[in-house]
Amino acid sequence: MTNQSSTGADPTRVLVTGVRGKTGLALARLLAERPSIDVLGGSSNPDSVNIGGVRPIAFSWDDPAGWSAATDGVDAMYIVRPDRADAPDLIGALLPETPSRTRIVLLSEQDADYMGAAGWAPRAERAVRDSGHAWTILRPSWFMQVFTDPRFYRDQVAQGELPFSSGGARLAWIDARDIAAVAERALLDEGHAGQVYELTGPEALSLPQTVELLSAAAGHPVALRELTVDEVVDGTTGFERELFALTFERVRAGSFAAVTDSVERVTGRPARTLRAFLSDAGSPFGRAA
Ligand SMILES: NC(=O)c1ccc[n+]([C@@H]2O[C@H](COP(=O)([O-])OP(=O)(O)OC[C@H]3O[C@@H](n4cnc5c(N)ncnc54)[C@H](OP(=O)(O)O)[C@@H]3O)[C@@H](O)[C@H]2O)c1
Repeated sequence: MTNQSSTGADPTRVLVTGVRGKTGLALARLLAERPSIDVLGGSSNPDSVNIGGVRPIAFSWDDPAGWSAATDGVDAMYIVRPDRADAPDLIGALLPETPSRTRIVLLSEQDADYMGAAGWAPRAERAVRDSGHAWTILRPSWFMQVFTDPRFYRDQVAQGELPFSSGGARLAWIDARDIAAVAERALLDEGHAGQVYELTGPEALSLPQTVELLSAAAGHPVALRELTVDEVVDGTTGFERELFALTFERVRAGSFAAVTDSVERVTGRPARTLRAFLSDAGSPFGRAA
């Protein structure tokens, strides 16, 4: 998709769903830095979206009546798959409401094929592939931002512990900003249609190696507490429980351990290390956090 400003044509309009989330926020910031991109930041809570150069717009998976207004005139759309059982159906219902020329980039997950064709993640991907839109699928490993997000491990790390179920497997943690950089290219540049990118950081780390880096960043020891999958899912129910259990089964099977060079191939620069990510993050693990 070419930048049309010099011709005086309308700017390229991009809808970023999940704009408050880890990859959506990073992507919206990148897009907003570009001239002549009209960035729409989709959220079920648009009043809470305050990102320079981004126009908040109501987008909720629970409100299909609002989808056509959100996607009106959109040249490219980033879809953050909702972690809910009906995600494949919702994505399949959203795309016919979206202009047929809209380029689609879907956020999926690494090694999604592990689940078999009837699995939840492959079905969500298939809704995009079968939509008739030009598409690109991103399959990232676990995000480094889980360590700094208060909805994930930030507060536990601040308190000196990382509860996790790795079974000794490694993870190729990826910086969500690298996922966003790939998404930006796929949304705006030619050559990415029909591509499935498995996206990882530059190295696969064991959990002992991971907590060593977290300890150095936090300035106090962070101990690994290895859990069983049953212990991890304790307290959850329904689909959330199923998804957690499957995700940690996959962690233990090494689904997130393979390292790829896709970030560098697409963006031209290597993926960030966990050490660099933690150094950029400042001091998110203060005891008061
Ligand atoms: N996390 C990982 O390591 C990882 C790895 C591989 C794949 N994935 C996949 O990536 C997708 C995104 O997952 P995620 O867990 O990383 O979620 P996320 O993108 O950080 O957040 C998802 C959504 O949660 C809502 N939200 C609710 N409260 C929020 C708050 N306080 N701050 C920010 N957002 C808030 C936002 O939507 P509203 O604004 O509409 O409320 C946001 O877009 C999922 O499909 C997941 O399976 C995640």
